[in-house]
Amino acid sequence: MPKINENFLKLEKNYLFINIAKKVNSFLKKNPDAPLIRMGIGDVTLPIAPVCVEAMKKGAEEMGVKETFKGYEDSGTGYDFLKKAIAGYYKKFGVSLELDEIRVNDGAKSDCGNIVDIFDDNNIVLITDPAYPVYVDSNKMSGRTIIYADSNEANGFAAMPDSSVHADLIYLCSPNNPTGSAYTRAQLKEWIDYAKANEAIIIYDAAYEAFITDPEVPHSIYEVNGAKECAIEMCSLSKTAGFTGMRCGYTVVPSALHVTTSNGEDVSIAQLWGRRQGSKFNGVSYPVQCAAAAVFTEEGLKQIHENIAYYQENAAIIAKTMDDLGIQYTGGKNSPYIWLKCPKGMSSWDFFDYLLEKIAVVGTPGEGFGKNGKGWFRLTAFGDREKTIEAMERVKKLLSE
Ligand code: MLT
Repeated sequence: MPKINENFLKLEKNYLFINIAKKVNSFLKKNPDAPLIRMGIGDVTLPIAPVCVEAMKKGAEEMGVKETFKGYEDSGTGYDFLKKAIAGYYKKFGVSLELDEIRVNDGAKSDCGNIVDIFDDNNIVLITDPAYPVYVDSNKMSGRTIIYADSNEANGFAAMPDSSVHADLIYLCSPNNPTGSAYTRAQLKEWIDYAKANEAIIIYDAAYEAFITDPEVPHSIYEVNGAKECAIEMCSLSKTAGFTGMRCGYTVVPSALHVTTSNGEDVSIAQLWGRRQGSKFNGVSYPVQCAAAAVFTEEGLKQIHENIAYYQENAAIIAKTMDDLGIQYTGGKNSPYIWLKCPKGMSSWDFFDYLLEKIAVVGTPGEGFGKNGKGWFRLTAFGDREKTIEAMERVKKLLSE
C-alpha cells in the first residue's frame, strides 16, 4: 500500500472557497428564490477586452491552417512576442527585464504553489497573516515550518519585518489579498534589506498591481533597489485583464538571483525553476498567449483600464457605504478588496452567515485567510455595478437597524 503525504491531513479539510460555495449552495437549496449577490471569491465579471478576443480568434484560426499551425512552443516558457510585450510593460515602471527572466504560465496560483518544489523542506518560511491560502497550504503540504508576520489593525494590515526573527523564504503580496493594503517603496525596501540580511528570497505576488493608484506604491518589487538579487515576482492577467477563465500569467526570476548550495556551489534560481518547469509544465496555449500579448498593446491597456476603472468605482461604492456606517476598513484604493471589521463584535463566520441569511449577500470571512482575519471580512469589487449598489443598500439597511 502506498504511503500518502500525511501533511495533507494537516490542512483544512476544504479549500476556503469550496467551503463558502458549499454554504451558499445549501442556503440556495433552502431559499431557491433568494436574490443572491456574490461578493465572495475574487472573480471578475466583465468580459474580455475586444482586442484580446480578436487576437485570440486570430491565434485560433492560425492553429487551423497547416502553414501557421503550432504544436509545442520550443522553450515552454512563452512565445517571445508575449515576453517582449511583458518586458515593454515593465519598462513603463522603469524596470528592465531580459526575455529569459520572464516565464509565461497559466496564472499566478500555479507558480505560487509550485515554487516550493525548488526549495528544501527545512527552510523557514515567513508568511504575512492574513494571506492568500495558497502560500500556507503549499508549504504545509511539504511539511515546512511556517512563521507568521502579523498584519493587523495596529500596522494597517501591512506587516513589516522583525529583525530578531530569521526566515529563508518570505511571501509578500502587494496590493494585498485579502486586506487590500499595499506596500510603499520605503516599506518594500525594508523587506528587501531584511531578506538580504537573512540571505532569504522574497516570493512577491503582484497579481493586483493593475489596481494601484498611489504613486508611492510600486507596481513591481523590482522598482526598488536591490530586489533583483533577492526576489521572484509573480503576476497574473486574471485580475488585470479578466483572464480568470483564460489562464495566463507570468513569473519573473531575475538572472541576478543566485544561492550557494551546502557544498559551496553557486546555483541560479532561474536555472533551477526552469528545470522544474521543463519537467512538469508544457506551457500556455498559443491563442491565449496571443490574447495576453494584446493586453499590453496601447489599445489593450486602454480597454483593460476601462474595466479596472469600473471595478474601482465599485470599490468606491463599497468604501462609501462603510464610511457612512462608520465601519473600519482597509483596501478599496489600490485594490479591488475591501477588508472590514465585522460590526457588533461578530466573528467573521457569524457575520458571513448573518449577511447570507438576512440579505443574501456573500462575502469572505477573514478567518479563512489566517488568525489575524478573525473578526474581519472581505468584500470584492469585481461584481456587477447594479448588484454592488443593491448589496450595499441591503447592508446599509441591515446594519442601521
Ligand atoms: C480570491 O478570492 O482570493 C481569489 O479568487 C484568489 C484567486 O484568484 O485565486
